[in-house]
Amino acid sequence: MSLKSLAKKRNILIGTAVSGNALRNNADYRNLIVQEFNLITPENAMKWEVFSPKRNTFAFDDADLIVDFARNNNQKVHGHTLVWDKQIPDWLKRGNFSKKEFHTILEKYINRVVDRFKGKIIAWDVINEALGDCNDDYDGDSFWYKNLGIDYIETAFNLAHSTDKNALLFYNDWGIEDINVKSNFIYKMLENLLIKGVPVHGVGFQMHIGPNFSPNIKNMRDNIDRFSDLGLKVWITEMDVRITDSRCTKEEFEIKQPEIYKAILSAIVEQGKVDAITFWGLDDSHSWITYSLDKNDSPLLFDKDLKPKSAYYAVADALR
Ligand code: XIL
Repeated sequence: MSLKSLAKKRNILIGTAVSGNALRNNADYRNLIVQEFNLITPENAMKWEVFSPKRNTFAFDDADLIVDFARNNNQKVHGHTLVWDKQIPDWLKRGNFSKKEFHTILEKYINRVVDRFKGKIIAWDVINEALGDCNDDYDGDSFWYKNLGIDYIETAFNLAHSTDKNALLFYNDWGIEDINVKSNFIYKMLENLLIKGVPVHGVGFQMHIGPNFSPNIKNMRDNIDRFSDLGLKVWITEMDVRITDSRCTKEEFEIKQPEIYKAILSAIVEQGKVDAITFWGLDDSHSWITYSLDKNDSPLLFDKDLKPKSAYYAVADALR
């Protein structure tokens, strides 16, 4: 039985990040995505540098392709991401704009993009990764913070909501699966936004993990509980499990990988509070880990030939 049929019985959306290029050029890739998933996130196609490579110009080709593909195959689309410090086009990054101009640029961008896909996007990652390296405060050096001040966060949520009242609006970040300094900060931040009436509906736990840095199950469940007690949805948005790491051999990690997928996802499924789980890529050849961090890694559910790995069966078991 496919992951999507298993997930459906649990009322969980099960997703993968997709690449526009692979979708366009690889029929096996397309077929597997249709067979296994009912939620897709464009891996890069909805980032600022792709949407607006030149000032006042918009390019929606890959995003349209992905959104149409999803609609034709009864899949939902998770929009990623409106406001982030990375993958910002040069004209914006190097531009010499006043605070007022930055505000107008952000406003026009969010209105244009959210409106373009209105009704076709179930959820938007409105803000991605707003914290600094020490994880206990905002990143004061981040592009949007520097140019607009801390209000950029609520401004972005308000703008997105005013354009699409039905889209779920998320704050998304890495390393917040556990109870730790970073998730404590984000908990407070979201609580404050909710008190102020800012339209934020969910928190995305990216879950880029590995054997040496995966969450403690009990803490993770307590963490999910506290965010959901705030009235927020908790979604796993970018899961992958690395196996290369200096402290262990790759072979040892290959054995641990399915165990980790299974332990974490069983705990989440059993808890019943997370209603969407997305993996950050379909297979080991379409993974940001293998193409930018370590080409010998294999963090996903399918191998480079699109064959299901033990990790796939572990996820299926967890859903079962
Ligand atoms: C990554 C993509 O997978 C890469 O293709 C791209 O080069 C860089 O971004 N957290 C995020 C994602 O929120 O947008 C990142 O995606 C991975 C980390």
